[in-house]
Amino acid sequence: MEAVEQLKQWIKESENIVFFGGAGVSTESGIPDFRSQDGLYHQQYDYPPEQILSHTFFMKKPEEFFRFYHNKMIAADAKPNKAHLALAKLEWEGKLKAVITQNIDGLHQDAGSREVLELHGSVRRNHCMRCGKFYGLETIQAQAGVPRCSCGGMIKPDVVLYEEGLDMDTLNKAVAYISQADVLIVGGTSLTVYPAAGLVDYYRGKKLVLINRDATPLDGSADLVINGKIGEVLSQACG
Ligand code: APR
Repeated sequence: MEAVEQLKQWIKESENIVFFGGAGVSTESGIPDFRSQDGLYHQQYDYPPEQILSHTFFMKKPEEFFRFYHNKMIAADAKPNKAHLALAKLEWEGKLKAVITQNIDGLHQDAGSREVLELHGSVRRNHCMRCGKFYGLETIQAQAGVPRCSCGGMIKPDVVLYEEGLDMDTLNKAVAYISQADVLIVGGTSLTVYPAAGLVDYYRGKKLVLINRDATPLDGSADLVINGKIGEVLSQACG
């Protein structure tokens, strides 16, 4: 059976699907991923982007951090694409239990997904480092340079930077969904960043689907591998 047809069959038969995704889910919304040839980590900057997106750099050079962050990490006018919409439809139909994402763009929620676990946080949530006051994305966008709270403290995006830990509650929930899933669909991720990539090891079923444009370390152990554009594949399989 052709791979997309097999995926369509598994989706049709299941009411306990979990999706685990990364930056490749949002590239069809115009947001570059990190490690593809045209990805963020292959573009030239004064410092390696992985260094800029670290806690140490954020604390030492906030002006430089926010210049990069404004230009490259906030895609305010991006819209959900066919992949986001297909996953929201599966949840609406009671077939998909959760979307677990490494993305920080909020597009799954914009598409209508309700149970979204954001392992690396979100650009939509920001807090003052001094008084803890919450700010939305619009405040960060409105202030050029380092965003300041009304109390004078620096506002930090709720995005997990390198050297920072992930939220344990979110991680534990993700492990619970994946370990109980009937079908686990992994898509648009190079599966190279831990602990996120390690979550897939908790899956205990026999319907591990991998939808990715490039090869990943999981290709050899997935039950179904589809190399293609995730927006097209999911809209075909969930249609
Ligand atoms: N359809 C299918 N796959 C795609 C598409 C697409 N339209 N576009 C890109 N891809 C694939 C690429 O082939 C690549 O393997 O998505 C993958 C994206 O991998 P990365 O750029 O490494 O992104 P991701 O896996 O999400 O990175 C994980 O790294 O820097 C950290 O915090 C950052 O959350 C990010 C984490």
